[in-house]
Amino acid sequence: MIPDSFKQDLLNRVDIVDLVERHVRLKKAGANFVACCPFHNEKSPSFTVSPSKQFYHCFGCGAHGNAISFVMEYQGLGYVEAVKELADSAGMKLPEFERWGGASKAESEGTDLYAVMKQAEQYYREQLKNAPAAIAYLKGRGLTGTVAARFAIGYAPDGWQNLQAVFPDYAARALKDCGLVIDGEGGRRYDRFRDRIMFPILNQRGSVIGFGGRVLGEGEPKYLNSPETPLFEKGRELYGLSQARTAVREAGRVVVVEGYMDVVALAQHGIEYAVATLGTATSPTHVQKLFRQTDEIVFCFDGDAAGRRAAWHALEVSLPVLADQKAVKFLFLPAEDDPDSYVRAHGRQAFERLLAEARPLSEFFLAELRSRVDMATLEGCSRLIHEAKPLLKRIAAPALQLQLLKQVAQASGVTQEEAGRLTEIRGAAPGRPVRPAPPKGPDRAMLNRKLDRELLACLLAHPPLVREVPAEVVDVSHAEGRALEALIALDGIEALTHAVILELLRESEHASLLNRIRSEFLHKDMDTEVARAEFDAVIEAIRRRNPNPRIKELGEKAAREGLTGQERDEFGRLIAEDAALKQRRMPPSTVL
Ligand code: CTP
Ligand code: MN
Repeated sequence: MIPDSFKQDLLNRVDIVDLVERHVRLKKAGANFVACCPFHNEKSPSFTVSPSKQFYHCFGCGAHGNAISFVMEYQGLGYVEAVKELADSAGMKLPEFERWGGASKAESEGTDLYAVMKQAEQYYREQLKNAPAAIAYLKGRGLTGTVAARFAIGYAPDGWQNLQAVFPDYAARALKDCGLVIDGEGGRRYDRFRDRIMFPILNQRGSVIGFGGRVLGEGEPKYLNSPETPLFEKGRELYGLSQARTAVREAGRVVVVEGYMDVVALAQHGIEYAVATLGTATSPTHVQKLFRQTDEIVFCFDGDAAGRRAAWHALEVSLPVLADQKAVKFLFLPAEDDPDSYVRAHGRQAFERLLAEARPLSEFFLAELRSRVDMATLEGCSRLIHEAKPLLKRIAAPALQLQLLKQVAQASGVTQEEAGRLTEIRGAAPGRPVRPAPPKGPDRAMLNRKLDRELLACLLAHPPLVREVPAEVVDVSHAEGRALEALIALDGIEALTHAVILELLRESEHASLLNRIRSEFLHKDMDTEVARAEFDAVIEAIRRRNPNPRIKELGEKAAREGLTGQERDEFGRLIAEDAALKQRRMPPSTVL
């Protein structure tokens, strides 16, 4: 655990404009800075950085957060890593770091696991130079030295304990934690990778987190991979992403393939925007990660049954992550080919032609569903709707959902309304409101929540106001009120900024509500003065709507047993305040 006080210091020390500017060219626009969003592809800038709030927000893709989130998203780091990275750049030390919870994510008994992996990578690369058989193998697969260097390809020589020469403390726990060695029976330790071509796997920041090792020629297993380690979580990582980044931005798309050699061979032929899953199925994290870099993902799988299954799985995990401006496509190669063999045989242009003709998700979706049922029968047609239903319901992008619904309706010969009803997709029938109209007349609870949201917006815009929220306006019967309470509880914190608030509450139940509110008001760009004026107005409105319960309480006590002197003063003051409020509520014209 990183202490909250450290996070606050850090966020107060780092300037988000400086930080973002290191990676993205910002342009001043009023009180804020804008740029084309680094997390999705766009032509006009909707990425906004607010120096006063120390926050960024993209009105296009919704990416948002503070300096820590920016480092996490931009560099693809975990939370702790991002804090460390940011602290380093701000010249702040995390002296007690090792004490918190023992070994941190990237450390083992005080040894930096990343450094260990880097050392191993360098060793393997060095060994490749002296390994004619390995060099011949790579050349035989059409690779040049340049591409081998781009992917830092190396060679682990034959032998059981070669790493002893690299790491004199061969017994160190760190080597095991990195997955570089295996402790065999009888406590004998030996190198995991022996006589294999080594493909380093990098995280987005470019640090080595794992290896894939291929036998030279035939042999089992063909590929041997690093186990899951504190650095390496297969389901989250994509081989080649770190190298592909620039090309992905330039091409406006990313190609996802299955193998290390596919990525490397495509790069060899000038297609540098390919990445591979690491012998695992596509995960939602993969898709999310890629959509932060680009708007188009092309999954390129073998044309065989396994390839189709893998593609269908990729489709399923993409559905909830898709937004309307994002596209997922599928490219099926001839059954006998993989991207490596295809591009070697036919070249870059041929492969790019195939990419241009890749099947859109909607097409693959329908074709696959049709193939599962007998469309010649009525039962088959209704089965189609039945099969489509759970998938359609998973789609978060409204336009895509509607488009697919239309296609399903058409294919099964029912009207769109009918299909909408059968799949229980709201808003499917044209002309019918998506949501029931709000109840007529003022709904008190709803209005109170709305006022609380406005109040929260003021507090986020100008946090010192938390000290001035009168206790009686806090109503914890709804989420907004509870968030308000949590904010007030932060009162004691010095230099309480908007970014610090969101940081301290990021793990709490209030996080998503506060984030929504933040993006609303960032749009309005409320400055301190406006925030204060609105604050006063909102407090007044809340009081007017909800007469102070204390008045009622004191009134009842007065009738029952009488009041103490102090209570009588309070009662008098509250009644006067209340009367003043009611007075103000009357517009002058009605008084006349
Ligand atoms: N894979 C793995 N372990 C294996 C086999 C495969 O982890 N025993 C993973 C690797 O990431 C590999 C990918 O699955 O790159 C695809 O495997 P496969 O199609 O069998 O290999 P290719 O990439 O075609 O390898 P090559 O061209 O070198 O034969
Ligand atoms: Mn292959």
